Amino acid sequence: MARCYCHWRKVLICVCSPCICLALLFVYISVMLCMTMNGTATSGSSGNLLGQGTAHFVASGTWSNKSFAPLPKTFWDVHPYGDAFWNRLQLAIDRHFNPILRPNNNNRGFENTFNESLLRQSFSEVTNLDSIRRNFDKLPQQMQEFVSYMQRRDYPTLIQPDGVCGAGAKDEKEPPLLLLAIKTTELNFKNRQAIRQTWGQARWVAGQKSNSRGGEGGGYVRRVFLLGKEDPEELSVNLSELLQMESQHYGDILQWDFKDTFFNLTLKDVLFWSWFSRFCSRTRFVFKGDDDVFVNTPKMITYLQDQLKKPQAHKTIKDFMVGDVMSAASPNRVTKSKYFIPDSFYKGLYPVYAGGGGVVYSGLLTKRLHNMSKRVHMFPIDDVYVGMCMIRLNAQPIHHPAFLTFDFPEKEKKERCSYHTILLVHKRSPNEVVRLWADVKKTQTQCWEVPLRDADKKEIKPKL
Ligand SMILES: *[C@@H]1O[C@H](CO)[C@@H](O)[C@H](O)[C@H]1NC(C)=O
Ligand SMILES: *[C@@H]1O[C@H](CO)[C@@H](O)[C@H](O)[C@H]1NC(C)=O
Ligand SMILES: *[C@@H]1O[C@H](CO)[C@@H](O)[C@H](O)[C@H]1NC(C)=O
Ligand SMILES: *[C@@H]1O[C@H](CO)[C@@H](O)[C@H](O)[C@H]1NC(C)=O
Ligand SMILES: *[C@@H]1O[C@H](CO)[C@@H](O)[C@H](O)[C@H]1NC(C)=O
Repeated sequence: MARCYCHWRKVLICVCSPCICLALLFVYISVMLCMTMNGTATSGSSGNLLGQGTAHFVASGTWSNKSFAPLPKTFWDVHPYGDAFWNRLQLAIDRHFNPILRPNNNNRGFENTFNESLLRQSFSEVTNLDSIRRNFDKLPQQMQEFVSYMQRRDYPTLIQPDGVCGAGAKDEKEPPLLLLAIKTTELNFKNRQAIRQTWGQARWVAGQKSNSRGGEGGGYVRRVFLLGKEDPEELSVNLSELLQMESQHYGDILQWDFKDTFFNLTLKDVLFWSWFSRFCSRTRFVFKGDDDVFVNTPKMITYLQDQLKKPQAHKTIKDFMVGDVMSAASPNRVTKSKYFIPDSFYKGLYPVYAGGGGVVYSGLLTKRLHNMSKRVHMFPIDDVYVGMCMIRLNAQPIHHPAFLTFDFPEKEKKERCSYHTILLVHKRSPNEVVRLWADVKKTQTQCWEVPLRDADKKEIKPKL
């Protein structure tokens, strides 16, 4: 009897005491959490939320000097980025869709539910905070202007291709493979014309023979130019009549009624995604780039068709974006720079993004970006904004060395076939574009089989 009692006591001690300890620990953590929350919570709706919303925005190993926010000391820190304006705005939205905090908001499909009043609500909540108001006056002029208009996205379309997805071939026999969407301005007629006559021809483009498979695929290419409006005060001449004529002739102009400034470029992405979702449902890929780049379109077509032939293509295409990818870039803090972002506006590193000149993504991803953009506050730098949407879609852009943001290395530039090894190179004038295109045509047979830069080098080396 006594032994039996002793036995049970041991079992009790062994089993129950860890449980009791765990329970006490749980109570302790809960109390600590509640106390922290009550201490720092602001307005009603966000009072009961954890501070994990933007935690994934900080890459591990971030240095913590004055320009950047220090890493949050606790994971439940309610305002890990202090009073930085954009971070504050977005935090409220990210929390609303955080699957841990608000599981119900995600039940109906992560990307499809959206309540438009959310952006407006978070904007008015944050701009009413005293600390934010005080900071606002210190922002540079251009930034203040951005903030005053950052809520507005419903700019009317002034010119658009009539109900079709850009200019294309007359009798396309299959859905377009690639839509070239090029950012330009009213004044850059020469750039547009050079593109139309060279790499941006809207027609069937034959790919280059790929030696491994032997097939010579191709695809239909379409083209559209994305424009805002020149400031009529700065430009005392009225160019809209000319642009109308250009549109009637080429059918590739998509213009909206907003001022075409650097900080308004993000509007072109957002409005383009919306237009694309309406008119381009069957287009497989989008190239979005500047009007001062050279693109090797045949190589691009081949590259994209190779992507479609990959075994897991139907899964990877959903997230497909390729370009010159920058990771852990820090905001530019040089006051005079065009890219200057003060730390009272944005703190932390930028998310991974594809920058410089041009980027290619799938039509499906374009539609997903369109849906996601309704949940992300506008950011003045367009490439970074796309990265911010990507990270919220849980998608990663792929880096490819054939996207050349900063030109060739000197030695490579002189090689005869160098322009056959790239998909894109940045900073080429209209004259250069025309000349390069002629060169590329001329050397086509000699350079038929050169592989794309670097990407293939590893495979080739062992054979040599
Ligand atoms: C912040 O750290 C970076 C990298 O270590 C350094 O280059 C920069 O000068 C630092 N800035 C300040 C304000 O200390
Ligand atoms: C985008 O949202 C709309 C409506 O909210 C939905 O019908 C559509 O399937 C979504 N598109 C994608 C690609 O998720
Ligand atoms: C959107 O949310 C706001 C408050 O969050 C609510 O008042 C409004 O009714 C909602 N609208 C729709 C269409 O769900
Ligand atoms: C520019 O010209 C177009 C067509 O000729 C006209 O509709 C428009 O009102 C003019 N804009 C300005 C600012 O004068
Ligand atoms: C963006 O365009 C709007 C509409 O034309 C204009 O009022 C605003 O000043 C522009 N924003 C910037 C930052 O230039």
